[in-house]
Amino acid sequence: MYTPNQLQEVIENAVRNINYPAHPERLYEPIRYIMSLGGKRIRPVLTLMAADLFNGDIQTAMPAALAIETFHNFTLIHDDIMDNAPLRRGKQTVHEKWGVNNAILSGDVMMVEANKQLSMLNSTVLKDALNTFNTTAQGVCEGQQLDMEFEEQQVVSITDYINMIRLKTAVLLGGAMKLGAQVAGASVTDAEQMYEFGENLGIAFQLQDDILDVYGDPEKFGKQVGGDIIANKKTLLLLKLKELANESDLMELEQQSINKDHTDKIRNTTALYDDYNIRELANVEMRNYSDNAFSALTSLKVDEERKTELFKLAALLMNREY
Ligand code: IPE
Ligand code: IPE
Ligand code: MG
Ligand code: MG
Ligand code: MG
Repeated sequence: MYTPNQLQEVIENAVRNINYPAHPERLYEPIRYIMSLGGKRIRPVLTLMAADLFNGDIQTAMPAALAIETFHNFTLIHDDIMDNAPLRRGKQTVHEKWGVNNAILSGDVMMVEANKQLSMLNSTVLKDALNTFNTTAQGVCEGQQLDMEFEEQQVVSITDYINMIRLKTAVLLGGAMKLGAQVAGASVTDAEQMYEFGENLGIAFQLQDDILDVYGDPEKFGKQVGGDIIANKKTLLLLKLKELANESDLMELEQQSINKDHTDKIRNTTALYDDYNIRELANVEMRNYSDNAFSALTSLKVDEERKTELFKLAALLMNREY
């Protein structure tokens, strides 16, 4: 049995040992940069934990874990272009450092690198793994598209929002778990159950991300606090506020959405969130989804001790600061 911390260490080592070509330097340097900035490595940890849960060998599952982490880092590079984000993991974003065109192409080649990792899996599981990986990756693109469209859209329902974050974020956590189960030879039902756990955890995870985007400590968060407010992202916080605000506060919110002074926009919008206790409401919603995740895991018949490690990891993620 492994603890999440041990697995994170194992993954960190495996990431360090990946060799990217040397030339053209400007194509591969951003990949080395983003991959070495760390991050929590939760997705590959989940893949390995899922494999371990079904008595799979960690090293055998490693290509799947690395494919998932490489894909995740690729989506971060492109996401930061789309979100106009200056900071990632406490450092300059790739497009700020190397320019947008370079960030696009390095991202593209990372998708290829992810596929190369995946292809190193055992041929008996490769077809199922490829299927899961592709379905997941396509879902993420669909979610990112919706996320961008919602920026310009005035009316977005909470159901629309949950579906959007399910796609852009949660399918990847679900896919990471399912892949781990698949490569360990779990039954189709068990692999689906793992997916259920991961997807619900992923929705809770994105809700927490949206909360941190407003309330995170800039020192710890590693990203620009208030970025979602600047971009008029339709987060749960914003949708709840729109639901609850009185007429004059709604007008104020409308004014803020076109405020060009970003510091002022963040301050005023956050003040509205505070007035309506939006943080707590978002927390309640987050806990609902993490409870769903916990029930999916509870009903799974696997080693209880290993399950406990997964529960602990999930709980930790809900209390994270970055
Ligand atoms: C960031 O993911 C993107 C989201 C889905 C919120 P993480 O919060 O897992 O980022 P890293 O990999 O730990 O930096
Ligand atoms: C994350 O959404 C989704 C993907 C990266 C695919 P965000 O845009 O909220 O992620 P952060 O906050 O930039 O990490
Ligand atoms: Mg972003
Ligand atoms: Mg985004
Ligand atoms: Mg975010």
